[in-house]
Amino acid sequence: MTALAEMIANRYGEGAAPDAAPPPNGTVAGLLERRSLRAYTDAPVPDALLRTLLACAQSAPTKSNLQQYSIVAVKDPAQRARLAPLCKRTSQIESAPLLLVFCADARRGRRICEMRGHPHTNDNLDTLLNATVDAALALGFFVVAAEAAGLRCAPLSSLRDEIEGVADVLGLPGGVFPVAGLMAGWPAAEGYVNQRLPQSVAVHTDRYDDSALEAEIDAYDRRRHAIFPQPPERQRHPGRFGHADPYYWSEGVARQLALPERAQLRDFLLRHGFALD
Ligand SMILES: Cc1cc2nc3c(=O)[nH]c(=O)nc-3n(C[C@H](O)[C@H](O)[C@H](O)COP(=O)(O)O)c2cc1C
Repeated sequence: MTALAEMIANRYGEGAAPDAAPPPNGTVAGLLERRSLRAYTDAPVPDALLRTLLACAQSAPTKSNLQQYSIVAVKDPAQRARLAPLCKRTSQIESAPLLLVFCADARRGRRICEMRGHPHTNDNLDTLLNATVDAALALGFFVVAAEAAGLRCAPLSSLRDEIEGVADVLGLPGGVFPVAGLMAGWPAAEGYVNQRLPQSVAVHTDRYDDSALEAEIDAYDRRRHAIFPQPPERQRHPGRFGHADPYYWSEGVARQLALPERAQLRDFLLRHGFALD
């Protein structure tokens, strides 16, 4: 198996990969071996490197070049200390060498309309979606660049657990909301490649077709389980759903989706200057 085929096989947890081209250059290999990592050394990330990585983040495509996002780099330990109790599921808020918050930003466009004397008539769900996609792409590009530089990262939706408080601490004005945080630093562990669904599930040719989903998910569950069996302590909501044996990926997905998460987001967005029309 070529190196590229082996990386693709590992990404799906399959023994073999179809012929794949081109040969793995640094970017392709980096993407195929990317993994979220939450354990970092204490070594700082130099500001000059951070500026380069932020330039890479801003190199992402952005809807009509509107650039409807902002990134808050949280450097002040006092700010980190204020955020930590608002993101209880993430224990590294204060210690991670880098903490960035990628925000959808509809405020800047409104201000530019004011500056140029035009009305802003696009306060709607499409703007919210465009700004959210912009922020997410910037985060993705930052991750790719950071990994290429030898850093490791983990995105954080936990920053939205108490979104009102986080917006307050970061001084986010109306029209700006945190899509996701990102922590990063130099790796203190190797981490692992997390297997993805096969392309036969995630990719459709010409028309959407999930007629084989059940069999495909069963096979994916078993494949993942053979590589990473989940110990009982990592099962979701055992108090509510008990312990499953085996505990497959799809059981975890279904348990997570069975309980409402962050139901407060819609009200927050409406209060915080977004229209959902
Ligand atoms: C929008 C988004 C939010 C995420 N939020 C969290 C989070 O709050 N805490 C966390 O530990 N990981 C978080 N992750 C990381 C995912 O858990 C991780 O990407 C996923 O399990 C796949 O693993 P991998 O990135 O190692 O391939 C998030 C990822 C994304 C894209």
